[in-house]
Amino acid sequence: MKSETVHGVSLPKIGFGTWSIGGENSPDPTIDEASLTALRTALEVGYTHFDTAERYAAGHCEELVGRAIRESGKKREDVFITTKVSPEHLSYDDVLKACEGSLRRLKMDYIDLYLIHWPPRSISSLDEAFPALNKLVRDGKVKHLGVSNFNLKWLKRAQELSETPILTNQIPYRLPDKSYVANGVIEYCQQNDILVTAYSPVKFRSMRVNRTLNQIAEAHAATPFQIALAWLVMQPRVITIPMSFNPQHIKENFQAARIKLTDREMSQLADEW
Ligand SMILES: NC(=O)c1ccc[n+]([C@@H]2O[C@H](COP(=O)([O-])OP(=O)(O)OC[C@H]3O[C@@H](n4cnc5c(N)ncnc54)[C@H](OP(=O)(O)O)[C@@H]3O)[C@@H](O)[C@H]2O)c1
Repeated sequence: MKSETVHGVSLPKIGFGTWSIGGENSPDPTIDEASLTALRTALEVGYTHFDTAERYAAGHCEELVGRAIRESGKKREDVFITTKVSPEHLSYDDVLKACEGSLRRLKMDYIDLYLIHWPPRSISSLDEAFPALNKLVRDGKVKHLGVSNFNLKWLKRAQELSETPILTNQIPYRLPDKSYVANGVIEYCQQNDILVTAYSPVKFRSMRVNRTLNQIAEAHAATPFQIALAWLVMQPRVITIPMSFNPQHIKENFQAARIKLTDREMSQLADEW
C-alpha cells in the first residue's frame, strides 16, 4: 500500500472508515456480527489505518474496532488508530475524560491520532481544548493531534495552539464535492505538510452513471468507485478512508491505491464536476 509521510509519520493512502459500524447514533447490537465481519475482512485484506470516533454508535464502534484488532492477533504497533473527540467535550477536563473513554472502549493504552471531530461553537473553545490535548501527547496517551471539518482560520488557530504538528485535517472531499478546494484548505494543507484525510470519498449517487468515470474505469479494468478513490489518492498529501460492509467492496477499495491515472484522466475527472 502506498503511503504519505508527514513529520516522520507514515499513513497508508487508503484506510478504513467506520461510520455505521456497530450502529449510527446509538449502538445497534443486531449488526455486531456484520460489523465484526467487515472489520475482520479489512484486517485480512491489509488495511492498517482505522478511523473511528467516540460519537460513532455512541462509543460502541470503538469497542468493535478494538475487539476486531485484538482478535486478529495483530500487534498494536502494526495498526494506526484515529479517533475523535466530539465538539461538546472540549473543556479541559472533558477532553481528558473523553480520551480515557476512547482508550477504555478500544482497550488500548494509546491513540495514534486524536482529532477534534467538528469545530465547536466558538473558536475560543480551542484555547481550553489544546492544553488538554497537548497534555495527552506529553503523557503518551495520544501520539499525534489533528482536526476535522476545520476551515483555514480554525486550522491556523489549531496550529498555533498545538505543541506538536497538526497531522491532518479530515474533511469531505470527493469528485463532486470541492468545497475545501474552493475555501483554500486543501492547497494550504498540501503546502504546509498537513495530510488531507478525504472522508465520504464514494458517497454520491451520480457516480454509477457518470460517463467519463465509467470510460476511465473501463480503461483501467476497474470500477467507478475505485477510480474515484484513485483520483483522490493520486493527489499529494491526500489520503482517504472509505467504509463498506461488503467484502468485495472492502477489497476493491484497498486495491484502488494501485491504480495510476494519467494527468489527462486526473483533469478530465476534476473538470467534469
Ligand atoms: N470527520 C467527519 O466528520 C466524518 C464524516 C463522515 C465520515 N467520516 C469518516 O469517513 C468514512 C467514510 O465516509 P462514509 O462512510 O461517510 O462514506 P463512503 O465511505 O464514501 O461511502 C460508504 C458507502 O459507499 C458504499 N461503498 C463503499 N465502497 C464501495 C464500492 N467499492 N462499491 C460500491 N459501493 C461502495 C458503502 O456501501 P456497502 O457497504 O454496500 O459497500 C456505503 O454505503 C466514515 O466511515 C468515517 O470513518 C468522517
